[in-house]
Amino acid sequence: MQKVIVTGGAGFIGSAIVPKLQNSGYDVYVVDNLSFGNRSFINIDSGNFFHVDIREVNQLFEIFKVVSPDIIIHLAAIHFIPYCNQNPFESSDINIRGTINVLEAAKKITNLKKVFFASTAAVYPISDSSVSEIHPLLPLDIYGLSKLAGERLLHEFYLETKIDSIVCRFFNAFGPQETNPHLIPEIERQLKSGVRQIELGNLTPKRDFIHTYDMANAVLKLIGLSNAGYDTFNLGRGIEYSVTEIVESFEKILNEKIEIIVAPERVRKVERMHLLADVSKLKEKTGWEPQWTIDQGIEDLISNW
Ligand SMILES: NC(=O)c1ccc[n+]([C@@H]2O[C@H](COP(=O)([O-])OP(=O)(O)OC[C@H]3O[C@@H](n4cnc5c(N)ncnc54)[C@H](O)[C@@H]3O)[C@@H](O)[C@H]2O)c1
Repeated sequence: MQKVIVTGGAGFIGSAIVPKLQNSGYDVYVVDNLSFGNRSFINIDSGNFFHVDIREVNQLFEIFKVVSPDIIIHLAAIHFIPYCNQNPFESSDINIRGTINVLEAAKKITNLKKVFFASTAAVYPISDSSVSEIHPLLPLDIYGLSKLAGERLLHEFYLETKIDSIVCRFFNAFGPQETNPHLIPEIERQLKSGVRQIELGNLTPKRDFIHTYDMANAVLKLIGLSNAGYDTFNLGRGIEYSVTEIVESFEKILNEKIEIIVAPERVRKVERMHLLADVSKLKEKTGWEPQWTIDQGIEDLISNW
């Protein structure tokens, strides 16, 4: 049975990946400091869960030595962009030094076969069309910059160890157990309180929303690739939706009219109008296809209110 350590496994996306790994026959271990994640999001034995901060390198050395994983999936990070902007030292410390620590600990594992790093679409510059993996990189904020540093650190790790190293640039995730106040949970929060007049920021920016269950399937396919070397993949749905279109999906499923008020304090000063993934490489190399439409995902969220 292959052993997998998932850092940040108790977070939003981790809580979709961990059960998928468990159901696919992997022996799963999670390292998470529960700063944003929640222990109850996943069903894992206490012996397989380490309540540890990735900034504590000695603890990582110890855990990685005891578990001796075949695969590491490194998700732990500070990722909500407004939080990163307000806390640039904390977020770069976790996202960069934390990644250095994970990779240093990984170098000591003799049977390690693969490292998977969760990067982000925020490494790309503003673009009006879809971006493929070979698009020039130009992060706009400290978060994207810290993730680009993580990508380069993984490349250095690969050159030194020749262990398969996969960078996966996640686009906008949506699904159950979201931990940060992104657009969809924010719409849910307001609608759940009973109002049908909601306050939002910019309405026109479009984002590529992908369901976390589809992401989990893609991650499984990527860690199953043999002789991957160092490689980079976009992970999005390949369709972009405006804020207004997302609200329309809620309207359709609730079968109720929702009025949107643009609140000036919610309007971001720096905003990309488009963020769309070209996912042809992922599809070609793994055979992955997304299953969840935006309407199905929102219907599933609403059914759990
Ligand atoms: N959600 C998205 O749309 C999105 C998009 C692009 C990339 N990503 C990346 O995917 C990964 C998972 O994101 P998510 O949306 O699940 O966020 P999340 O905040 O829910 O998950 C991150 C997890 O890491 C843990 N963590 C944070 N700091 C830690 C530390 N110092 N030590 C140990 N654990 C720590 C948190 O407790 C949390 O469980 C992150 O690397 C994020 O940057 C997410």
